[in-house]
Amino acid sequence: MPLNARDRLIVALDLPAMRDAEAMVERLGDGVSFYKVGYQLAFVGGLSFVDALIRANKRVFLDMKLHDIENSVAKGVENVARLGVTFLTVHAYPQTMKAAVAARQGSNLKVLAVTVLTSYDDIDLAESGYSQSVDALVARRAQQAHDLGLDGLVCSPEEASPLRLVVGYEMTFVTPGIRPQGAARGDQKRVTTPSQAIAAGADYLVVGRPITGADDPKAAAAAIVDEIAAAAK
Ligand code: C5P
Repeated sequence: MPLNARDRLIVALDLPAMRDAEAMVERLGDGVSFYKVGYQLAFVGGLSFVDALIRANKRVFLDMKLHDIENSVAKGVENVARLGVTFLTVHAYPQTMKAAVAARQGSNLKVLAVTVLTSYDDIDLAESGYSQSVDALVARRAQQAHDLGLDGLVCSPEEASPLRLVVGYEMTFVTPGIRPQGAARGDQKRVTTPSQAIAAGADYLVVGRPITGADDPKAAAAAIVDEIAAAAK
């Protein structure tokens, strides 16, 4: 568990071009220490930016949600570990998780499992060929992630408390879907304030548009850090 509130905020750099990401990191300055790079930025040069962020003493969450045959997952994870990334996501399939955990041995990389995407409901699962409900599949995959030695889970703040009952307190919980009071929801269906997410047991909060889309991103980040600090007391 990180000790200070600032280090528990992860800003999602979901921006269209490298120059936008560079300008955002510059604007946020010392106010933010942890960034998430996902598909959008990765495919416009974001992977080389990961290296620049790490050299600037920032921590990086590479949100690649990997899933492939074991050999491909393992080789990919070994190379991500060499980049010096802190968090990497994989889909919570047993083979994939096993390969990722083995491949990150000896590095500082933490592998997080994505149980069921939060945009999926029971009907989406049925269409994908699953007979379990979302809640049952999330619990099953969280248990498997725990038993296979995954370092953490990406989950919604509402899932955090029930999942603590399943996996205990060793695993790191990273929660997106955060909106400070009064912020626009965007496409997030269920949103939680930073204090509610901390109270529910989140270790790290992923926040994108409420910061990157704010008139004053640095002030928006500072307000969230203050809220985390107050809730963590
Ligand atoms: O802009 P916003 O704060 O909604 O960004 C949330 C980030 O967290 C995005 O990068 C999104 O892909 C990610 N995420 C999410 N819900 C999940 C998993 C990841 O919003 N279940």
